[in-house]
Amino acid sequence: ALVSRLRADLLAWYDGHGRDLPWRKGARDPYRVWLSEVMLQQTTTAHAAPYYARFLELWPTVADLAAADDGAVMAQWAGLGYYARARRLLECARAVVRDHGGRFPDREDALLKLPGFGPYTAAAVAAIAFDHPANVVDGNIERVMTRLYAIATPLPAGRSEVRQASAQWVMAQRAGDWPQALMDLANQVCRPKSPLCLLCPLNAACVAFRAGDPDRYPAKLAK
Ligand code: ADE
Repeated sequence: ALVSRLRADLLAWYDGHGRDLPWRKGARDPYRVWLSEVMLQQTTTAHAAPYYARFLELWPTVADLAAADDGAVMAQWAGLGYYARARRLLECARAVVRDHGGRFPDREDALLKLPGFGPYTAAAVAAIAFDHPANVVDGNIERVMTRLYAIATPLPAGRSEVRQASAQWVMAQRAGDWPQALMDLANQVCRPKSPLCLLCPLNAACVAFRAGDPDRYPAKLAK
């Protein structure tokens, strides 16, 4: 009951304070969600935005991208870095066309089998594009969860604790908004340094806030 009330509070905060990002506009198209998530694994939202716009202008659908010239895609990717990811992107677009009739599968386990998909991307696309209650955990959500529950085990060993913590908040209602609300909270309030705990809609439940030491989390391995 506490979790569902706080969850509603964070979603209300998201409605008022969430970022107005290009991939959140309009209907949730799995192609757009996937493209944005692949780019955002690489770089910041501000840096990714013009690349995202250019890709959609040149290749508005997954079928368009699948039919693209490899060199043209690589050229547009330049500046995002890590070309293997762009190669994987093309491979995936072609697999979606060849094996799935040009439509992304909606289940997390089927998404996970696509080229370039890992647990994060599969969960993010299942949740954001298809509104499935997937447990989406990225570095931002890790920071929020380690603070909320004062998870002292340094990452990566602490990851299973973090996933269990995060799973408790996953629900069918607004399943796609939820991880994005957490990401925006992590970016704007639960920041790595000097978090703005007094503005946080989850502060009543946050163990690190109560202890006055949110900066300790996520715990770092002693060198
Ligand atoms: N970082 C990765 N995915 C994101 C999303 N959907 N919204 C904001 N930041 C993100």
